[in-house]
Amino acid sequence: VKSPPTIFVIFGATGDLNSRKIAPALYNLFLDGWLPEQFSIIGTGRTKLTDEQFRENMFNDINQFSRSGKVDGKKWEKFVNSIYYQVSDATDFETYKEFGKRIEKHNEEWKTQANVIFYLAVAPNFFPIIASNISKAQLAEDKDRVRIIIEKPFGHDLDTAKELNQLLSGIFDECQIYRIDHYLGKETVQNIMAFRFANSIMEPLWNRNYIEHVQISVTEQLGVEERGDYYDGSGAMRDMIQNHLLQLLCHIAMEPPVSFNANEVRDRKVDVLRAMRKFTPEDVRNSAVRGQYGSGWMKGKEVPGYREEQKVDPQSNTETFAAIKFFVDNWRWQGVPFYLRTGKRMHQSSSVITIQFKDVPHLIFPTEAAESWQQNRLIISIQPEMSIRLQVQAKRPGIDMVLNPVDMVFDYKGTYTNQAPEAYETLILDTMLGDQTLFMRGDQVEAAWELVMPILSTWQNKKSLNFPNYSADSWGPESAEALIARDGFNWFTLPVNGKK
Ligand code: BG6
Repeated sequence: VKSPPTIFVIFGATGDLNSRKIAPALYNLFLDGWLPEQFSIIGTGRTKLTDEQFRENMFNDINQFSRSGKVDGKKWEKFVNSIYYQVSDATDFETYKEFGKRIEKHNEEWKTQANVIFYLAVAPNFFPIIASNISKAQLAEDKDRVRIIIEKPFGHDLDTAKELNQLLSGIFDECQIYRIDHYLGKETVQNIMAFRFANSIMEPLWNRNYIEHVQISVTEQLGVEERGDYYDGSGAMRDMIQNHLLQLLCHIAMEPPVSFNANEVRDRKVDVLRAMRKFTPEDVRNSAVRGQYGSGWMKGKEVPGYREEQKVDPQSNTETFAAIKFFVDNWRWQGVPFYLRTGKRMHQSSSVITIQFKDVPHLIFPTEAAESWQQNRLIISIQPEMSIRLQVQAKRPGIDMVLNPVDMVFDYKGTYTNQAPEAYETLILDTMLGDQTLFMRGDQVEAAWELVMPILSTWQNKKSLNFPNYSADSWGPESAEALIARDGFNWFTLPVNGKK
């Protein structure tokens, strides 16, 4: 499938998101033959650049950040002809008339009506003015051909998320709005659906009768880096749990959709969010843990604590770690805890989902045989390892009957030779093709906010904290260990590059 003729307008084209993600993704789509012949990129921003200068920037960014490595000169010569730049002030209506002219010009040259995608790679406070100007300049009239891409955060809380949805839905139809949660574009995340719904052996086990608990752990070694101003007003709950981790939970907990149609899939995810138990202040005390990193050493380098980071309030109470125990109140999942945890400056960078099955009903082996007993686990590793492991008990070779856990492994590296596309490649191509399956629908965003709001407001009301409460290169605060240990479980970790 090739997408139809497309004009791709990038707001914030001189920013980080374009450099690191959008430009390399577009180039890789071009290399892999996904882009149509009639394709053009119009970068726009306040910085004064000529087409030539912008092209050079794109070249350097792609060279640095593309998964396909250094740019091939011959291929670049072809790609570069589709890149343009327009100096603009996104708040100025005149800018949009200019876009209108450029779009017209392309349409005339190509003798067609091209699709137009507006990618808002800008801070969210610009979403309203850009969207309104697009509408005022009558650039959003063609509901079939015009699309808009926005990135999280979709609001700062439930009310602002609703405001944003209202504003956008006053201008665009829902089918024109592509809200990116880049986790949904990750190859291993998409594969969860394939694994669950393209195989018959899992579904009978995939419920409260066989599953004891689920863990979703997304840990990062990075601190807040240069993003202190954004992050300090946000925190781990808003930055990661409200979106990425809850979406992973939806993939695990959703009912089978009747088809792989965007709205069918998203309906089933919304069902999960709606079925999740809302927190009382008492639940927040018992089932939600927050943390903030202090200074420490990472890979032999001394690193500052969160409160010493640039653009962070030295008395900040923003959480850089959160661990929450959720329940999904429906027939399938009644009583099964879902433990979610995420944090910055943690010991490992890894995203892993662990599904622990219930124990055997009766042990027929002598207890000595089962010394290193481990209940069955299914471990879905999203990154950096891309794999699915099923942990089962096996008899260790020898005269004695000694059991130990072994892994049955599906590993991408060993199985496939082709490189997995980056999340942004998948998501940009899907936008061009008009497939919204991997994008957040407005009600999905709101349902996720509804769930996290009681936790956020309880936290906000109780500010006196013993922050920082975990040091860099650790597994987070002790209270997070206690949260899961109280129920008789431990956080599971997979070795990264052979290291625990
Ligand atoms: C972003 C968050 O959405 O996801 C960042 O804003 C976080 O704080 C990032 O670092 C993690 O994404 P990935 O793909 O590196 O796991």
